Amino acid sequence: MPSAQSKWDRIYEARITSSNLTIFKIEANPALVNAVRLLPRTGHALDLAAGLGGDSCFLALRGLTVDALDISTVAMTWVNNQAQRAKLPIHARAINIQSETLKANQYDVVHFHHFLDRSLCKAITQSLRPGGILIASTFLTPEHLANESPQDLPGPSNPNFRLNAGELPALFPSLQVIQFIETEADPNLDQGVAPYHGMIIGKKP
Ligand SMILES: C[S@@+](CC[C@H](N)C(=O)[O-])C[C@H]1O[C@@H](n2cnc3c(N)ncnc32)[C@H](O)[C@@H]1O
Repeated sequence: MPSAQSKWDRIYEARITSSNLTIFKIEANPALVNAVRLLPRTGHALDLAAGLGGDSCFLALRGLTVDALDISTVAMTWVNNQAQRAKLPIHARAINIQSETLKANQYDVVHFHHFLDRSLCKAITQSLRPGGILIASTFLTPEHLANESPQDLPGPSNPNFRLNAGELPALFPSLQVIQFIETEADPNLDQGVAPYHGMIIGKKP
């Protein structure tokens, strides 16, 4: 089985070479865009599993200095090149993210989208400064489908990489929940949440 790094390197290599791609052409995810009013205009943000950096770019254009982390060397090298060219304050680093990767009390904003590693949640909470906010969204298996195979749902077929209903606030128990949304077939377009997704915005007291 290919490693996660080689799998994602291949995906990103193909995407980068098949088009005239720039970081500005990668749309930020709608849940983050909808949370813009909650974002500070200065400070430090962490974009976990940042991929090709569309969300990092959105955070940087808002005024935040961004650490973008991802296991893909191809993606992180490309994001750094793009950021330098565009003079964006994004510092991308290729790393297999683990709890020890995340230092305590570093960030005003922590963000992740389409990524789920439950073992990181405590370290993610600790990496926020007091008053800092978490904005997180990813694929969900709705309760009534919990005993079925998720093959027919959008997103990963491995259930470990999908949220269970009601799980997100429980993963970040010490955060004050500002917003928590789960969708089934119908998206919550007002808040930018796609079908079969969970989304949380939480604040560290
Ligand atoms: C579905 S993509 C989402 C990328 C980006 N957040 C987005 O929404 O476009 C999942 C990302 O997780 C990254 N990833 C997977 N396992 C990882 C790990 N252990 N450490 C760091 N990044 C990882 C992959 O390289 C990939 O970029």
